[in-house]
Formats: sequence, C-alpha cells, structure tokens
Amino acid sequence: MLVEVKNVTKNFTGTKVLNNVSISIDKGEHIAMMGPNGAGKTTLVRAILGFYHIDSGKIEVNGKDPIKNRVEVLKNVGFIPQLPPPIKLSLDELIRYVVKSSNIDKSMIIKEADRLELSIKQNLSKPFFKLSGGMKQKLLIAIALSKESRLLIFDEPTANLDPKGREKFYELLREIKNDCSTVFITHRLDEVKTLVNRKVYMDLGKVVEDEKI
Ligand SMILES: Nc1ncnc2c1ncn2[C@@H]1O[C@H](COP(=O)(O)OP(=O)(O)O)[C@@H](O)[C@H]1O
Ligand SMILES: [Mg+2]
Repeated sequence: MLVEVKNVTKNFTGTKVLNNVSISIDKGEHIAMMGPNGAGKTTLVRAILGFYHIDSGKIEVNGKDPIKNRVEVLKNVGFIPQLPPPIKLSLDELIRYVVKSSNIDKSMIIKEADRLELSIKQNLSKPFFKLSGGMKQKLLIAIALSKESRLLIFDEPTANLDPKGREKFYELLREIKNDCSTVFITHRLDEVKTLVNRKVYMDLGKVVEDEKI
C-alpha cells in the first residue's frame, strides 16, 4: 500500500476538520477527490505529506510516518499546492535550490515549463512571489512533473490557469507513468475523467463516497 490513512482525526481550534478518515491509495490508482469548500480535502493531503500533525489515527506513506520521515517520504512524492507559497527566491535561485535538494534535472524543468508556455528564461531574476498566480502554478507543475515520483498530488491545480494553460497541463499529465499514483483535488470531474480510475467524495471532514470508475 502506497498510502494508508487510518481513523485520522484533526482539529483546528476546536473544529473537527478530519473526522475519523480512513483511505488507502495503492500503486496505479488515480483519484479524483471532490467535495465542497471546507470539506477537509487540503487538510487531508497536507497531513499525508506530513505538513500537519494529526490528533489521532495513523498515516503511512510507503510504510513510513510522513512526519518522522518527512525527507524520505517527500523524495518520492510530488505536490502542487492549492495556494503557491510566498517564496522570496528568484526563479533562478528557486530552480537551483530544487535541482540541488531533489535531484531534478534543470533542463527538464525548463522543458516542462516551456510546454506550459511559461518562459522561465525571461523571468529568471524575478522573485517567485511576483509572478502571476497562473505563472506560479505553471512553475510548480513543471517542477513536480520533472521529479521521479511514486505519488503526485494536485490540489486544484488548474484553478489559476488560463484555458490554454489548462489544456497544456492535461497534455503533460497524459505522459505521467501509469505506475505513479495520482490524486487530483478538483471541482471538475469532467476535466480529469480520462485520467482517473477512482473517485472520492469528502464532506464535513469525512469520506462519504469512494468508488472505482
Ligand atoms: N491552518 C488552518 N488553521 C485553521 N483552520 C484551518 C486551517 N486549514 C484549514 N482550516 C479549516 O479546516 C476546514 C477544512 O479546510 P480545507 O481542508 O482547506 O478544505 P477543502 O480543501 O476541502 O476546501 C475549513 O473549515 C478551514 O477553515
Ligand atoms: Mg482545498
């Protein structure tokens, strides 16, 4: 089992955001995760990535605790956040940092970015946080897709993209190796329909529907 989430509960300031959630993700599974705003989708994936401590239950990624073994767990996982972090580094510095820390090929990042029609070369000295929302998203996508991952998690990745960027993004996704499991948090099942084989629906901190499609 690639990801094992068992009876996980998470509270934020007294509110139960994850309420006894159990879900497992196997190799080769491609999931559309849906549900209304505030359902707990982002919290769940962030807990899987070890970004949040949980109050009770258990999470394992590749048999490892994502908090205790964060570095090792994240080595095999790509993540596109819903909100790009406010990174102060310039694109050049950021890319150099990523290349060094994650063993990604720089030319690969530039190639993927080019295909998303984000011209990195003209923006190398610009701080990441000064890019437009869609440009940030494109760079994060290019970085994630350049990495050899066993699991890729996209948290509403197309929300900021223009229609053409969206189209290119889905084109790139079709090239992801099939044994790399994927999770798409999305409000548009039709956009990912041909890329997924399972749909999970969350509401009020619970998984309320989980079926293969
Ligand atoms: N860092 C946080 N601190 C406090 N509350 C949070 C935090 N992150 C999320 N929440 C709350 O948790 C609930 C679920 O949020 P989230 O997981 O982002 O939902 P979704 O991604 O399904 O829209 C919301 O009520 C949100 O306000
Ligand atoms: Mg969210």
